[in-house]
Amino acid sequence: MEQAIRQAAERLGKSARAVALTGAGISVESGIPDFRSPGGLWSKYDPLEYGDIRSFRRNPGKVWRMLLDMDRLLRGAQPNPAHYALAQLEQGGILKGIVTQNVDSLHQRAGSRNVVEFHGHGRSARCDSCHRHFPREELDLGDLPPLCPCGGPIRPNFVFFGEGIPFEAQNEAFRMAERCDVLLVVGTSATVAPASHLPIIAKGRGAFIIEINPQESELTRTVTDIHIDQPAGRALPALVAAMGL
Ligand code: APR
Repeated sequence: MEQAIRQAAERLGKSARAVALTGAGISVESGIPDFRSPGGLWSKYDPLEYGDIRSFRRNPGKVWRMLLDMDRLLRGAQPNPAHYALAQLEQGGILKGIVTQNVDSLHQRAGSRNVVEFHGHGRSARCDSCHRHFPREELDLGDLPPLCPCGGPIRPNFVFFGEGIPFEAQNEAFRMAERCDVLLVVGTSATVAPASHLPIIAKGRGAFIIEINPQESELTRTVTDIHIDQPAGRALPALVAAMGL
């Protein structure tokens, strides 16, 4: 790993517009299971039955049983050294921003400022009928699904399968991918579009791709230039140290 870290540090040190793309793997060391590793969320809940907007509209109470599980994990989680390392790279002027697929707000809580939430976030929710917004703290999750005064079911402000990506987030994320000269891809299987298109677009524009993931992903043998096969909580602090930040 040492050589890969050194090479990655060297490339990042020379970059002018480095960007990070993160997935659920960066929050595993914060106690939030990812989706597709053994024991991940989708091994417990079928994504077709629990992760799709049509399933939510067919049976919001059932989907909220999974959402409640996620909510408990999110509320108990703290940023881990990987999140803090990315914030340090931003504070050191190396990282221009993060596109995250995660809804846990851990990047912001670690101090990152330019964070594009590609799949929304769990800080608030909205009525699926009248679109009235509710801060997460105001939700009474005693009865599921929580209902809006209009009678409609309330849903989190993150993106279900079968829904589009929030317009501003998608625009900004693709702009960052097109302009970056180094893309740091951390903790994603790169199996879900359109987020999985971002590294391919970056590569096509000449960016250098550094991937941090203990396993291989859809990118590793195709677009990745350096694969650091270590957990992010170990690899990212080592990268920051190798850069002397
Ligand atoms: N450090 C780095 N990577 C890790 C770690 C770790 N400690 N632990 C696991 N990983 C890797 C896994 O090897 C896997 O490749 O993180 C990746 C997580 O992949 P997924 O579970 O598929 O999560 P993600 O890529 O973020 O999923 C994308 O799919 O279900 C939807 O909306 C959901 O945003 C999510 C999207």
